[in-house]
Amino acid sequence: MNPIYLDHAATTPVHPEVLEAMLPFYTAFFGNPSSTHSFGRATRTALNRFRDSMALSLGCLPAQLIFTSGGTESNNMAIFGVLNANKQGKKHIITTQIEHHAVLHPCERLESLGYEVTYLSVEPTGLIQIADIEAAIRPETALISIMYVNNEVGTIQPIEQIGHLARSRQIPFHVDAVQALGKLPLNLGTLPVDLMSLSAHKINGPKGVGALYISKNTILMPHIFGGSQERKRRAGTENVAGIAGFAKAVEVNLPKLESSQLKAAEFRQIMVSTLEQQLGSESFIINGHKEQCIPHILNISFPGVTTETLLMNLDLDGVAAASGSACTSGSLEVSHVLKAMKLPENVTASAVRFSFGMGNSIEQIESAAQKLATIVKRLRTT
Ligand SMILES: Cc1ncc(COP(=O)(O)O)c(C=O)c1O
Repeated sequence: MNPIYLDHAATTPVHPEVLEAMLPFYTAFFGNPSSTHSFGRATRTALNRFRDSMALSLGCLPAQLIFTSGGTESNNMAIFGVLNANKQGKKHIITTQIEHHAVLHPCERLESLGYEVTYLSVEPTGLIQIADIEAAIRPETALISIMYVNNEVGTIQPIEQIGHLARSRQIPFHVDAVQALGKLPLNLGTLPVDLMSLSAHKINGPKGVGALYISKNTILMPHIFGGSQERKRRAGTENVAGIAGFAKAVEVNLPKLESSQLKAAEFRQIMVSTLEQQLGSESFIINGHKEQCIPHILNISFPGVTTETLLMNLDLDGVAAASGSACTSGSLEVSHVLKAMKLPENVTASAVRFSFGMGNSIEQIESAAQKLATIVKRLRTT
């Protein structure tokens, strides 16, 4: 039995072309890009090329991209960096209750340091309301940080509108776009966003590499000190092989955005219609917004069955799916995202996330959906 991987929102397999692009930086081109000799210069030239090609794909200037160790570091860098650079001593942040922990935990840390954080609530669809952001803005608001696509339910936030609001109030706007890259068109040349976090491993790139985009007028205090890399904004010898892989993943994935959306929509449709046929449309609930969502993430609840039992049975049957919840001391906590969406307990306690990507086929999705339906039927009768 070949296992079926439906957890692409957690991480993705590395694309063969990505691996190929990375290998030379573990062999022939091992020089330190900060070295002035020919070995270093060769790596530096390659690094510049990767930054240029990524910037071109994203519609920004190469100097506006800082390479990091991933989405988590980019989020931390954006949040601490903007607040530490605030000369007026503004100490208020606006974010949402459904952010990734890589935003929520830095915010909690800031609260312990005397900052105030407004965690906006969301609609049951996972959407935030622009009016709520507007109402939360204060004279001392130093940053708005809102994710583009939610990693658990796939809901897309109205980033452009929020950006215009933030610009009109001259408040820096950070967007965690880790789940949006490769799923939605991102044009940093036109999007009113000041900082954007990206990660390679969600788009068939390597783990442990990411980027933070910074707009021209945004001032950021570095939070890693040492060498002068990344224009003194992030010290440390660059992960050249990782960056080579990230650039290749962007190059391979971004032009295929539309076909990837269509394919994911087809997978989603197959999964849902199989469940409708097998279980009846009344017996499961799709979480998230019906239209404002990426098709790659499908979060479904099966009231009466627990997430943990479902995931375990799926795994035994060779289907890898996920819950958004963290596993603490052997049991699953209810997801903070579903809780913030104010869904009933039987919905939050039975939610499973399926996420589609490279390597998935129609046959796999049909098979996974059949297995899922059989498991749900069995669990409901025992
Ligand atoms: C929305 C979101 N932000 C941030 C991260 C963290 O990214 P990384 O794993 O590259 O640190 C993730 C990863 O799951 C994510 O989904």
